[in-house]
Amino acid sequence: METRPQGGRKGPPPRDVPPVVGLLLSMALMNALLYLCLDWLFISPRRSTEDPTRCPYGHFRMGLTSNCSPWLSCEQLRTEVRQMKRVGEGAVKRVFLSEWKERKVALSRLTRLEVRDDFLHGLRMLKSLQSEHVVTLLGYCEDDNSILTEYHPLGSLSSLEATLNLSKYRSTNTWQHRLQLALGYVAIIDFLHRSPLGTLVMCDSSDLPKTLSQYLLTANFSIVLNDLDALPLVNRSTGALVKCGHRELRGDFVAPEQLWPYGEDVPFHDDLMPAYDEKIDIWKIPDVSSFLLGHVEGSDMVRFHLFDIHKACKSQTPAERPTAQDVLDTYQKVLNLLRDTVTSQTREML
Ligand SMILES: Nc1ncnc2c1ncn2[C@@H]1O[C@H](COP(=O)(O)OP(=O)(O)O)[C@@H](O)[C@H]1O
Ligand SMILES: *[C@@H]1O[C@H](CO)[C@@H](O)[C@H](O)[C@H]1NC(C)=O
Ligand SMILES: *[C@@H]1O[C@H](CO)[C@@H](O)[C@H](O)[C@H]1NC(C)=O
Ligand SMILES: *[C@@H]1O[C@H](CO)[C@@H](O)[C@H](O)[C@H]1NC(C)=O
Ligand SMILES: [Mg+2]
Repeated sequence: METRPQGGRKGPPPRDVPPVVGLLLSMALMNALLYLCLDWLFISPRRSTEDPTRCPYGHFRMGLTSNCSPWLSCEQLRTEVRQMKRVGEGAVKRVFLSEWKERKVALSRLTRLEVRDDFLHGLRMLKSLQSEHVVTLLGYCEDDNSILTEYHPLGSLSSLEATLNLSKYRSTNTWQHRLQLALGYVAIIDFLHRSPLGTLVMCDSSDLPKTLSQYLLTANFSIVLNDLDALPLVNRSTGALVKCGHRELRGDFVAPEQLWPYGEDVPFHDDLMPAYDEKIDIWKIPDVSSFLLGHVEGSDMVRFHLFDIHKACKSQTPAERPTAQDVLDTYQKVLNLLRDTVTSQTREML
């Protein structure tokens, strides 16, 4: 039986802030007070691991005040939910903004019967993995191929730049919030890799736009996983690995072990394609995080501090990549370090 390389940490050793970063920080000093205010207003909460307000299995709560209700049945979905406009579509689901008891909800419908197995796998995962990291399930009807979830008006991470560009949200377009989003993303990967069902791999992520479309931005500026249709299980005891689909993958967004290894002369054959494990998700973290960090004042300073851990994520050998937990710990340390640095430099200035 294989053991997880939990101890083989790849994070960078603690060290002093290099001069270039000091300079960047000084340049940011004028904004420091604003940063701190936003910091306290928006970032401080939301670090609990287990939400005591969660409902028992088979129930949901919308908002903190209401009670837990059982998931809606087929009958209720048919009679109480009013379908309004289409807000999204992927290969498996067509998603409609809908109304239930005067509340906005999201109704997902199967697009075509050929992908019903994926749809049902996603539903099973959604039921089993309800947590702060996953969109809230409100009900489902297998007979009608429909799923009802919480509606998130800010949509998926694909529209993050556009959302942060809206005048209403422009003040939240800071490196602090964006690093917090990256932390939330890695926390989801960590949650999947150590889920109650075992080590799950986020397969529906063959390029960056597709990957971003699987996650929703909540009104609180946290991230939840929305599309759970392709989450195969790695079984460490049996050594069972996974493959993401049956077709050839290309490009450098996917991990190198996901590429056809036998060269152009040998035609791709799924049966000959080797399987792999959850470390493919680690390979993709630097690209997703870099998108989340964007190009605001301070983004490059954060990138600089994440350089070593991201380099380790891009190890050609999967086993040499850190675990999601390692990455999460490093992100948290960088966030704390940069906050403290900004805080002490502000004090010096005052
Ligand atoms: N609960 C929701 N609130 C708001 N938008 C949603 C919600 N669920 C899905 N969407 C939108 O629909 C798109 C497709 O949803 P997804 O579950 O990824 O479908 P598929 O399984 O077909 O890929 C998402 O990228 C997002 O833009
Ligand atoms: C945001 O957080 C508040 C309280 O922390 C909670 O009541 C609300 O449901 C959250 N909203 C979303 C969309 O997660
Ligand atoms: C941001 O908004 C401005 C106008 O307010 C627009 O010119 C620009 O294209 C927008 N950028 C993005 C990424 O949406
Ligand atoms: C791994 O496979 C074994 C044998 O089939 C099974 O008993 C076990 O439950 C599996 N583990 C997980 C996490 O699914
Ligand atoms: Mg999707």
